[in-house]
Amino acid sequence: MRATLKYLFAIIVSTSFLFTQTDKNFAKNGMVVSASELASQVGVEIMKNGGNAIDAAVATGFALAVTYPQAGNIGGGGFLVAHLADGRNISIDFRETAPKNADRDMFLDRNGNVIKDMSLYTHRASGVPGSVAGLIEAWKKFGSGKITPRQLLEPAIILAEKGFTISERFAATLNNYRNLFEQDQGAAAIFIRQDQKSWEEGDLLVQKDLAKTLRHIAEYGINGFYSGETAKLIVEEMNRHNGLITIADLQNYRPIIRNIAKGTYKGSDIISMGPPSSGGILLIQMLNMLENFSIDSLSFNSPEYIHLLTEIERLAYADRAEHLGDSDYWPVPFEMLTSKEYAKARAEKISLEKATPSGEVFAGKQTTYESMETTHYSVVDKDLNAVSITTTINTSFGSGKVVDGAGFFLNNEMDDFSAKPGVPNIFGLIGNEANAIAPNKRPLSSMTPTVLLKNNKPFLILGSPGGSTIITTVLQVILNIIEHDMNISKAVSSPRTHSQWLPDQITIEKDALSAEVIAALENKGHIIKLDKDGKIGSANCILIENGKFFGGADSRSENSVVGY
Ligand code: GLY
Repeated sequence: MRATLKYLFAIIVSTSFLFTQTDKNFAKNGMVVSASELASQVGVEIMKNGGNAIDAAVATGFALAVTYPQAGNIGGGGFLVAHLADGRNISIDFRETAPKNADRDMFLDRNGNVIKDMSLYTHRASGVPGSVAGLIEAWKKFGSGKITPRQLLEPAIILAEKGFTISERFAATLNNYRNLFEQDQGAAAIFIRQDQKSWEEGDLLVQKDLAKTLRHIAEYGINGFYSGETAKLIVEEMNRHNGLITIADLQNYRPIIRNIAKGTYKGSDIISMGPPSSGGILLIQMLNMLENFSIDSLSFNSPEYIHLLTEIERLAYADRAEHLGDSDYWPVPFEMLTSKEYAKARAEKISLEKATPSGEVFAGKQTTYESMETTHYSVVDKDLNAVSITTTINTSFGSGKVVDGAGFFLNNEMDDFSAKPGVPNIFGLIGNEANAIAPNKRPLSSMTPTVLLKNNKPFLILGSPGGSTIITTVLQVILNIIEHDMNISKAVSSPRTHSQWLPDQITIEKDALSAEVIAALENKGHIIKLDKDGKIGSANCILIENGKFFGGADSRSENSVVGY
């Protein structure tokens, strides 16, 4: 551990790294692309010490819980998709579950109306966290066997215990969320400066309680979180604030190894996350639909290209609202939705001339076709273990509630359920019966950790945060590489658009489309709206070519490539 301490000391006191900007985006032995340079560095150090990409991803995940508390977490959940060097494709579902005492109408008043913000900023907004169980499961089942839990967690513990200097951007984020932190004593004590002044670049963020919690996990594994002191603190927090999570909920939590969602697109195999994520299914369905058009003849962000993307997105998101939910509770028509035949039949509904109003678009009938906040990180090692992980506490800093004495934010993932049929959640997504709340059920997600393979070898590892825009972000990055021949940096940072059936509009980033393109789309009947946050997704990806790794850290956020 001396070495770990040494390098952590080095990265905390100095911002000048070993790599130049160009070197950093290229490596041959291992690479991590994540939302935090410190966390990426932690993952790379694990690989340098003999760990594989799974070990590195797990250590990166725990480090992100410290250095990127707005989404990196131990109080939320996520998904892992990986292609292993031995040829296996795997996915782990560590999505949060609804507590046993949850019920379908828990966010409705006595007149049956949704109570504003209850599924977002209260202790009832939290599902039972899955991240710790999921990350430890990944390490146990698929790690190299050469890295101990202590080694995995030590860097995160040190970063929490000693603190790390914050960037200008992170200081601004903390200042922007001050109102949220003020609603919760635990959050205010850590995330508002002790002298009550605004955070500034270079300030030290220390998280002693979080360090203690991470130490419990290093020592006792999942029992360090789901039993003992941490579990007790979570339940006490719930009891003080009318929350629902019980000790039984925590002890019964299990990550699940799921069948991966599999598809193909123009010679590439796609492996992605199936239910309870909608991401993999929608991504495959949209790529399948696109194969029915000569998309390779359409230039990037031309009116014809955006029109086509919008029309396939409209159809896919209509299916999401009707058909998708936790497949342990709802019969998701997986084969149908990912089949080429179904996509062809759906694609035939598209006019290349005119926008189809969303009010005229419905989910496909089940037939006999058989056949902003979240964070994403991508990791690869020298043996080509390729790992794609997206985790979330839902919106930035989750419910804004910190478990007193344990130092981490609780998720507000219950908002990803459909609180009432047809009523949109924070991402404007609507749902029906498939995604209704039920005890122990997992809320439908849009997270899309994905790996593309060529000839059974990984060539693209990708994913993004962004709520409902995650899936269309991943789609556009894939199209930027395959159809528009962009390099990985350009592919992740180029401007994006998004549509999702309802609301009936194309959301665009500033500068995504020229005035002429907007006019041409409006002429076809589209409604164009500027994205309210100014950015769509934030993709962290790795492209692998001839055994070399090229990192794509989305310039929309403080993402970072570290390789060696
Ligand atoms: N919490 C966002 C998602 O899982 O889609």
